Amino acid sequence: MIVTDRAEELRDLLDKARGEAKRVGLHPTMGALHGGHRANIRKMAAECDVAAVSIFVNPLQFGPGEDFDAYPRPLDDDLAQAEEAGADLVLAPGPQFAGHPLISVRVTQLADVLEGAARPGHFDGVATIVTKLFAIAGPCFAYFAEKDYQQLVIVRRLVSDLCLPVVVVTCPTVREPDGLALSSRNAYLSPGERHAAPVLYWSLLAGKRVIEEQKATDGDAVRAAMVSVAGREPLFQLDYADVIDPSTLAGVTTVLGEVRLVIAGRIGRTRLLDNVAANAEEG
Ligand code: PAJ
Repeated sequence: MIVTDRAEELRDLLDKARGEAKRVGLHPTMGALHGGHRANIRKMAAECDVAAVSIFVNPLQFGPGEDFDAYPRPLDDDLAQAEEAGADLVLAPGPQFAGHPLISVRVTQLADVLEGAARPGHFDGVATIVTKLFAIAGPCFAYFAEKDYQQLVIVRRLVSDLCLPVVVVTCPTVREPDGLALSSRNAYLSPGERHAAPVLYWSLLAGKRVIEEQKATDGDAVRAAMVSVAGREPLFQLDYADVIDPSTLAGVTTVLGEVRLVIAGRIGRTRLLDNVAANAEEG
């Protein structure tokens, strides 16, 4: 595995690979890799000839008072995990990589709701760094997971609106056996908080059951079921629990066909989010 902190080196190596008609994959991450990242890298390595991973804690997507400084940066362990999962190349640039851009990508509408409403400017920061990584990597298959569903929808739209030469590949969310979605931020949880954390998934499953088993079509009935389960865990402070259209991210009044159930909130000082698909047809 080649490790570099130089964007130009990644660009040259991927250009060379494309020159040899190789299929190039890119998995952008902020490091603190876990089983979710490893699964995404394994999928990419199985589907591509060259599997590149970027590791960069992007300051542009953190707001004031958020956990940019506290965000874990275990680079040696990350490199070992990336290699074990089948990465061929890792770009791990220094903190100057983001720079102080005078030009950035601005996301409207899709970024006004859910995580974007809770974290103003977050998706502009994501879209700006992802565009930069795509510009460096060149034409490629880019791997993003459902875990960050709003980010996935925004990146797909980024690629189509800006005609970027990238195919977005969707990876499933990897969970702990008790249902908690793997996240680099799970490391912040105390044992008691960790015990409470599967509440997000239970709430999502409650909403999914209301749609798929009870055949409810009233969006508010689904929300009420999710909020009720979320309320049973005293350590969990709910931010939102919603039933949304999977492409526009708008809240749905009547559940028809495929929808997305999304939830976010805090356990102690840690913000957690999760989502699942639900289908109003045969459940
Ligand atoms: P990060 O949080 O490190 O996530 C990198 C990728 O791993 C994202 O596509 C994310 O959805 C995926 N991922 C996270 N948890 C997962 C899980 N439990 N199962 C499967 N995949 C999971 O998302 C970012 O970094 C940044 O916003 C980034 C896109 C790198 C831009 O800075």
